[in-house]
Amino acid sequence: MALKKQTVNTLQKMKENGEKIAMLTCYDYTTATLIEQTDIDAVLVGDSLGMTVMGYDDTLPVTMEDMIHHTACVSRGLKNTFLVGDMPFMSYHISDEQAVENAGRLIKEGHANAVKLEGGAKYCSQIRAIVDAQIPVVAHIGLTPQSVNAFGGFKVQGKNVERAKELLEDAKKVEEAGAFMVTLECVPEKLATMISEELTIPTIGIGAGNGCDGQILVYQDMLDMYDGLAPKFVKHFAHIGREMKDAFNAYSKEVKEKTFPVTGEHTFKIADEVMEELKK
Ligand code: KIV
Repeated sequence: MALKKQTVNTLQKMKENGEKIAMLTCYDYTTATLIEQTDIDAVLVGDSLGMTVMGYDDTLPVTMEDMIHHTACVSRGLKNTFLVGDMPFMSYHISDEQAVENAGRLIKEGHANAVKLEGGAKYCSQIRAIVDAQIPVVAHIGLTPQSVNAFGGFKVQGKNVERAKELLEDAKKVEEAGAFMVTLECVPEKLATMISEELTIPTIGIGAGNGCDGQILVYQDMLDMYDGLAPKFVKHFAHIGREMKDAFNAYSKEVKEKTFPVTGEHTFKIADEVMEELKK
C-alpha cells in the first residue's frame, strides 16, 4: 500500500531511480478501495469504460459526463494512489479553450490529479494550454483507440521506419509541450524502449514491452473477467470471471433449492405478539 500520496514528483522520481510504475484502470468506488489497499501507484479512469462498463463497441460514444461520474466514484475510494481521468473523444479536439475547460471539469468535479489525452504532435497546443492551467497531463501515443476509424482497426503502431520516426517525434513533442508522463499503447518493444530511454518523463506501456518505465492494464482484462479473446499483451493474473460465474451459479442453486437464506443466520426476528396481532 502506498503510504505517502503519489504525485507527479514521486512518479518522476520512480523513473529516475529505475523503479517501475504499476498502474491499472478503475471505474468504480469498490474496486478503487481494493486498489488503494495494494502497491498500485496510479489509477486511470480510462474511456475504456465505454467498452468494459457501458458495453459499447469502442470508446467513441463516451461523454464528459460519463468520465466525470466515474472519476468522482473512483476518487472517493482512493487516498494515496495517484488518479488520472481520461479525456473522451471530442472533449479536447476542437480548441485549446475546450480542452482546458474539460480538463478543469475532470479535476474540479471528478477530483482527478491529472488528465490523459490521446494524440501526439497534433495535440501539443492543447497539452500546453492544459499544463498552463496548472493541470498535469498524461499524453497517449501509439494505438490511440479514439482514432480507431482513422487507423482502420486496433493495430500495432510504428512498425515501419516512417511511422516509428513519427512516434519518436510525437513522444519528444508531448514531453516538450509539458506532459509529465506518456502512455505507449501497442508499440513494438524495441521502439518503446528507445522512446523510454530518450525521454526524461516516465513512459507507461500497454502492449509496449518491459522497456517502459511502467505498465498499465485494464483491470477486467488482467482479472480474466471476459469470455472473449484478450489482446496478446494481456496476462491473466487471476480468473475472477470464472469465480464470479461459479458464485452466481451457487447462489442460484441455493435459491432454487430453498437452502438460502437460512432462518436465523440471514434473517431478522419479529416478536411473536406482533405476528399474533397481525393475524387478528
Ligand atoms: O482508456 C484506457 O483505459 C486507456 C488505457 C488502456 C491506457 O487509455
